[in-house]
Amino acid sequence: MRRKMLILSSVITVVAFLSLSFVEEPKFKNLKVLDKNISKEDLEITMKQFKTALGVKCNFCHAQSKTQPDKLDFASDENKHKNIARGMMKMTMRINKKYFREHKNAITCYSCHNGNKEPKDPPVETLEE
Ligand code: HEC
Ligand code: HEC
Repeated sequence: MRRKMLILSSVITVVAFLSLSFVEEPKFKNLKVLDKNISKEDLEITMKQFKTALGVKCNFCHAQSKTQPDKLDFASDENKHKNIARGMMKMTMRINKKYFREHKNAITCYSCHNGNKEPKDPPVETLEE
């Protein structure tokens, strides 16, 4: 009897443990371009890359939280730059897929933006020296 109880309780422990690791909360609420199962680490790296590529802070694309004004509401789409960035992400992915074979990320946000919110215009060439 004791033995059975012991086995039963260890089975329950294992089941409880497994269900805990499977019923994980979705990590992010509003991903439309990135892989919905992206890890926290990869998302953070991606966001830091955006920040550096455009020379901005997170709040350039993310709206202020309505309930905690000292925080950003990362899932909100209220800041119009966020959707512009989504379009840019799709464009960048498309360029890489269509024109590059060996380098999967030949073109990045940095390639055009170079640390600027809006890429710089090229210098105007003239025939004068
Ligand atoms: C150039 C614009 C831009 C900048 C700068 C930026 N983000 Fe984002 N962020 C986005 C976009 C676009 C998405 C949504 C991606 C998608 O739809 O797949 C996003 C999504 C997120 C999410 C997921 C929110 C959710 O639950 O859906 C988090 C968290 C986040 N960003 C954090 C940050 C942090 C922290 C910084 C600063 C280090 C930052 N972002 C800087 C554009 C930006
Ligand atoms: C092929 C060049 C190119 C690439 C690659 C590119 N952008 Fe852009 N981006 C532009 C240009 C040009 C503009 C100026 C607005 C316009 O012409 O529509 C711009 C504008 C923006 C803006 C609006 C800035 C503002 O001042 O309102 C955001 C946000 C942005 N890009 C984010 C990104 C992100 C994030 C990436 C990478 C996923 C990226 N861009 C990749 C060319 C590029």
